[in-house]
Amino acid sequence: MVYWPVITLIVGLLGLLSSVLAQNITATSTMPLQTTSTTSTAPSLTPTPIPSPITLKISTKSGARNKTAPLLHGLFFEEINNSGEGGLYAELIRNRAFQGSDLVDGVAPGATPWAPTLTAWKSIGGALLSLDLLNPLSENLRTVLKVDIPSNATGEVGFLNEGWWGMNVQPQDYDASFYIKPNGALYKRNVTGVNLSLRSAVTDDIWATTRVEISPDISVTKYTKLEAVLTPSVTAPNKNNTFAITFDATEAQGQTFYFDLISLFPPTFKGRKNGLRKDLAEHLLDLKPKFMRFPGGSDVEGNSIETRWQWKKNIGPLTDRPGRPDYWGYWNSEGLGYLEYLQWCEDFEIEPLVTIYSGYSLDLSALYSAHTVEEGDLDFYINEAIEQLEYAMGGVDTKWGALRAEHGHPEPFSIKFVEIGNEDWFSDSYYWRYPRFLEALQAAYPNVTYIASQATETSPANRNVTIPPGGMWDLHHFETPQFFKDNFNFFDNWQDIAGYPDVKIYVGEHSVLGRDRVGGIDWVNGEGRFKFPTTVSAIGEAIFALAMERNPTIVTHCSYAVLFQNLGRPPQWGPNFISFTADPSETVLSASYYRQWMFSNHKGTETLPVENTEGGFDPVWWHASIETGSTTTTEDAASNTTQYAQGNIYVKLVNAAKQPAPVTLNFDTAISKVNGTILRHDDEFGFNYLGNATAISPKTFDLEQSAIQNQGMTITYAVPGLSVVVLELDQKED
Ligand code: AHR
Repeated sequence: MVYWPVITLIVGLLGLLSSVLAQNITATSTMPLQTTSTTSTAPSLTPTPIPSPITLKISTKSGARNKTAPLLHGLFFEEINNSGEGGLYAELIRNRAFQGSDLVDGVAPGATPWAPTLTAWKSIGGALLSLDLLNPLSENLRTVLKVDIPSNATGEVGFLNEGWWGMNVQPQDYDASFYIKPNGALYKRNVTGVNLSLRSAVTDDIWATTRVEISPDISVTKYTKLEAVLTPSVTAPNKNNTFAITFDATEAQGQTFYFDLISLFPPTFKGRKNGLRKDLAEHLLDLKPKFMRFPGGSDVEGNSIETRWQWKKNIGPLTDRPGRPDYWGYWNSEGLGYLEYLQWCEDFEIEPLVTIYSGYSLDLSALYSAHTVEEGDLDFYINEAIEQLEYAMGGVDTKWGALRAEHGHPEPFSIKFVEIGNEDWFSDSYYWRYPRFLEALQAAYPNVTYIASQATETSPANRNVTIPPGGMWDLHHFETPQFFKDNFNFFDNWQDIAGYPDVKIYVGEHSVLGRDRVGGIDWVNGEGRFKFPTTVSAIGEAIFALAMERNPTIVTHCSYAVLFQNLGRPPQWGPNFISFTADPSETVLSASYYRQWMFSNHKGTETLPVENTEGGFDPVWWHASIETGSTTTTEDAASNTTQYAQGNIYVKLVNAAKQPAPVTLNFDTAISKVNGTILRHDDEFGFNYLGNATAISPKTFDLEQSAIQNQGMTITYAVPGLSVVVLELDQKED
């Protein structure tokens, strides 16, 4: 069977690997321009028509309704763009345990890839800083910081950390901790303490300081963990701040100390130790997500089998976590590990959707040779996945459930969705790996819904898999707005067309990646690719979301990609949902973020039948639903009728044209009041950026009474050009 949208998808995504490396996105935090290629004026494939009048008949008392998909709008989190490290993971110290460098630093000629560095650390008062391998903190944290204090040092002497491209300082408690060991028998046992401080990187300001005492009996063979709280009394004027540990030179002159796992946490989301950055977590929560897919994406696969995301290496005490080179080229301490992801879902009260490693790594770096595990070795990885689920869901009487309890969470988590691999259309081995994983996982956890990361359709022979009824398929769409317009009917009758009875779709990654151009997305050169989501991004994604919302029996989950971008670093992927820096006041929520916010806050509980009696889709698209509360529409056997539950009605309208579109809505019930929420901008390529962060953001309005006609049965409204609108209609009391 040839299913053409899938061909487009596969061709597009095959181009993705090269584009990931080839794209040269160089935005800075304040750049207000979308620098696309010089040929960015390439025409749309189809010019947007001028709107003509549309009349919609919306039935609340007859016709077929469907329950809306309860978990439709969710999150997809992956470590990319320093989303977690230096982002959502609240740790303020960069390179806190000298674990490894990013790929660029590490592959200088003759150097060991990922070799630890002193990145982000600087000397104060002439202290000599170096990396030491002879005094490991633990089995897994083997490189430490050696601090030699010159014998002629004066004043304060020590070192500082620059943070993740800055550090936010506010009047709040900062939990500092570190491991220290003096230099064995040579130690004079005269140092009474060290000073911790938060200080400006550009002025002499010290925002907070505290002294941590060192006992004269401190061990010189083992590390001692020291802790303190720093509480600035003011807000620093900018993010150019550092965290310093210093000695009084008079005490420390001529001596050597070893340090490791130097950590500083501000207050975290819900006060979790080792938790999430509060402001960023709250932005996610405002989206009312229903699930979260983690930990990738490509990052679950890694650059090699050895560097895949391995749950057993990112649980338990931080001293036991070696970290790993992230697929996207930088070192991940994995402080945000498996348990932290599960707790994040618990704190958000959302469903975890766990992607498991399924025996295939992307190997973009060309540093390693293996991509696919040998068929004979697959059981090891299958078992690793089963144990991963036991760690989350097993009772405390199970081996891995007991370990979870030891890690502070005796209560089992519930995992309802597990994805087997990621984007396995890149591999040529899913056809034998998927069935083996599926069979073993289903036997161990029969109540989980398993999601295939590649489906049959038109893939080359070796890539085919058959998804059994009850399963799901994750498909990814990074597209132009035109694609989403052209594929508004993508999901209609999909199960029949694709020959997948009772298989549901998860749109695990999607976004408008660039502007319309002949040939769609240019994966190779990135021509027309957006760095930040634009007005047309929100419009294209809204059209696709309507396509999903009106097919709730087929599309049950969707999530945007990519979620975060730390503007302090060169971007790796754009466009992204949320851009941020170390300073919470510099966060930019994108047009795409606000689009999802509007949809997830106005989903409704049941779809409503809509008939267009005048006009058709393009340039306007629509969908209607109703918020019935806990009551649902039911068949009444006695009277042989259907009881239609009533409530607030949502009508979503998207206008892709620049001109307003006149719409008449006819109801079979009287409407008393209409509120609206609109997301729009005059410039189709406008976008939110630092300094203009809410240019494209939802605005509410009340429709004037004159628009409510015919005793409330008819509403007239001109949908403004380039807009996404949700009308919320109150029914008149009977
Ligand atoms: O979302 C960014 C990347 O895009 C993901 O890692 C991968 O799954 C997809 O190709």
